[in-house]
Amino acid sequence: MNIGFLASHGGSNMQAIIDACKAGRLHAAPVVVISNNGDSRALERARTEGIPGYHLSGLTHPDTESLDKAILDTLLSHKVDVVALAGYMKKLGPRTLARFKGRILNIHPALLPKHGGRGMYGMHVHEAVIASGETESGATVHLVDEEYDRGPILAQVRVLVMPDDTPETLAARVLEQEHLIYPATLEKIATGEIVLTGPRR
Ligand code: GRF
Repeated sequence: MNIGFLASHGGSNMQAIIDACKAGRLHAAPVVVISNNGDSRALERARTEGIPGYHLSGLTHPDTESLDKAILDTLLSHKVDVVALAGYMKKLGPRTLARFKGRILNIHPALLPKHGGRGMYGMHVHEAVIASGETESGATVHLVDEEYDRGPILAQVRVLVMPDDTPETLAARVLEQEHLIYPATLEKIATGEIVLTGPRR
């Protein structure tokens, strides 16, 4: 199973998946990294790991249709089976979404459907969880469709919210769990325990 990543910033989830592949815990191959940010740590990680990395963004492709096509062509030319969004801050275009329908995963740092949607990214999510007095939060791996954070849920893990949690302390504990649940969910796909129904390459 060839995994293609889209990541905007740090790429720590991407790294956790790459590490799981290297350790034999995930029977898959990381084959390509695409970032909308030419200076991202994610692209740096790709270079370190010897994985082809591409900066594709509104800068390289000012026209949204050509950007969508460039992303799709890059995924196809690297024979990607499953797309893993890992802190990707942009929406995918309609061509890429259609061609990989049902085979694009994302991870969100809360228990969807709560605390998702437009504007719910990074610390905003953890701030919202704490502000609403939740006693638990967590992480959700889900399939991606046209809307933010709305596709079918594949896996969730719970994390207790402590009374003295700040958004930062909660984010750190959730991120630890993200690094476990994302590779574990991909392994279930690789072994067929979770069946993705989307078109195969
Ligand atoms: C994670 O919290 C993930 O849930 C969200 O974006 C963050 C990405 O972190 N979608 P990283 O780039 O994987 O370190």
